[in-house]
Amino acid sequence: MSDSKSPQPSNFDKEMAKVFDQAAIAIGIICAFNFKILCQGLKEVGTLGRFLKWLIPITLISYMVVRYQWQLDFLYWLSPKFFHNERLEAIFYLGTLKNVSGVAGISTLVWLWICGIIPTIRLRGYQNALDCLGLKNAKDFAPKVVDATRLDTYRVSLKVLAPGIGVEKIKARRDELQSSFEKDIEEINRFKNPKYVEIILSTKFLPDFVDFSQALENLTESGSFIVGESKKEFVTCEIAKLPHMMIAGTTGGGKSQFFKQLLTGLLKSTDHLQMHLIDMKGGLEFRDFATLPNVKVAKTIEASVSTLRKVKKEMDARFDYLEEKGVQQIEPERHPFDRIVIGVDEASVLYAQARRDDEDYDLICEARNLTEKIAKLGRAAAINLVLATQKVSKESIDTRIQENITGRMCFKTGTPEGSVRVLGNAKASHLPATPGRGVWQFGNEECEVQAPYLSTNAMKEVLQEVKEEYQTGAKTVKQKNKEVDTPMTTSAPVTTKPLTKEMLLNDTQS
Ligand SMILES: Nc1ncnc2c1ncn2[C@@H]1O[C@H](COP(=O)(O)OP(=O)(O)OP(=O)(O)O)[C@@H](O)[C@H]1O
Ligand SMILES: [Mg+2]
Repeated sequence: MSDSKSPQPSNFDKEMAKVFDQAAIAIGIICAFNFKILCQGLKEVGTLGRFLKWLIPITLISYMVVRYQWQLDFLYWLSPKFFHNERLEAIFYLGTLKNVSGVAGISTLVWLWICGIIPTIRLRGYQNALDCLGLKNAKDFAPKVVDATRLDTYRVSLKVLAPGIGVEKIKARRDELQSSFEKDIEEINRFKNPKYVEIILSTKFLPDFVDFSQALENLTESGSFIVGESKKEFVTCEIAKLPHMMIAGTTGGGKSQFFKQLLTGLLKSTDHLQMHLIDMKGGLEFRDFATLPNVKVAKTIEASVSTLRKVKKEMDARFDYLEEKGVQQIEPERHPFDRIVIGVDEASVLYAQARRDDEDYDLICEARNLTEKIAKLGRAAAINLVLATQKVSKESIDTRIQENITGRMCFKTGTPEGSVRVLGNAKASHLPATPGRGVWQFGNEECEVQAPYLSTNAMKEVLQEVKEEYQTGAKTVKQKNKEVDTPMTTSAPVTTKPLTKEMLLNDTQS
């Protein structure tokens, strides 16, 4: 009944109501946007400790402002009409505490807003770059950049909400992402919650070529070698810390080149070193090293096994010494022993699982067994293994050897599985096809590097310098390497049987 009596709204009222609604929505959006900026500001500040650290000077400054009544001057300057004398007086009589709290509160909000506005604009930029790809799920939802965290000077990690899109679909657009962000896409990972994807951007691009001679100046530590140039620094590694390493990747990735520069670096930086190099592809790769007095090269399976037997014998002798002297580890600088490095290029050829009727069957099994023992115990005896291989599988390099390898340099692999077998992740399969570009993994550390290139002439020059150092006595070997020169037939075979699980258990227990 009352409806029929109530006055109908005029057109003007309807217009006003519409304007009011739109204004309310606009104010709501502005408030929400500013609230988001403030939250982002809070996130930028980080911890409560940091927040309080800032709050103290803000409160002190606010006290100064109130003391000299600058807040009243400021309000009057802002709007003389609104903040007329009576209002300002009312504010003044609120008292010092309320005035200081007000000024400090408003200043904190302004400060948080300033802290938040730059990351918000940056986030918007990342979002625009991501939108350029036109990625969408079946419900037309485009991925949203929800967070950006700076990892270091060069790298930023983006957290992207991408339900129903998935990491593989984004990885497939890597090139487009790179050109859209105008940054290097270092990694694309899945978050614990599979709705989110992590994109790591880097402003630093790795060089496509690093010259060994220039990189050599970074080789300052004794007994170390160059790994390569990473986005952060020149990476070098002390071989004693490794103690064993593997170089892997598909053909043409740069394994042999890396191997040669590693050996050259070690020969240059180490004073008491013996090297035993095994190259089952005929010894061509190591020909130049053989001219040094402290390097021996084995080219056949017989010579390789002979070398391994003798190194194993030497390792046993070193353990006797350790026991006798009551020390934990051989240190070539202090003890009468040289560091021994065994380098095997094309390791899969040496360790390839042979059939029982194969004529080299016993020798291959022996090579595997000896290498496994050296890998397990070599560290304390200052004996290090460096294995290069195209294939990494339990057939090519025994898992018992692999378990003792802590340093891994993996050049590009053809498949993600190939990379997983070496590194435990697929990163090496996503590397660009640049020779010498690899992933270096040492314990928990992992980084992409460009390995140095060492030309044959430059290598010959460095090796000549090392040779001269041996001639002048600047470098010496502490032990004459008679053992390795004796023919293989004179040494007793260690074992020709392949290791069984029982043997391994006995070995571990003993
Ligand atoms: N660090 C590097 N910088 C620039 N070029 C490189 C680098 N490493 C390798 N190359 C180039 O790639 C070529 C192949 O390298 P290398 O012989 O070391 O590959 P590989 O992995 O040992 O291959 P394979 O498995 O067939 O033996 C080299 O001849 C060289 O031209
Ligand atoms: Mg090679």
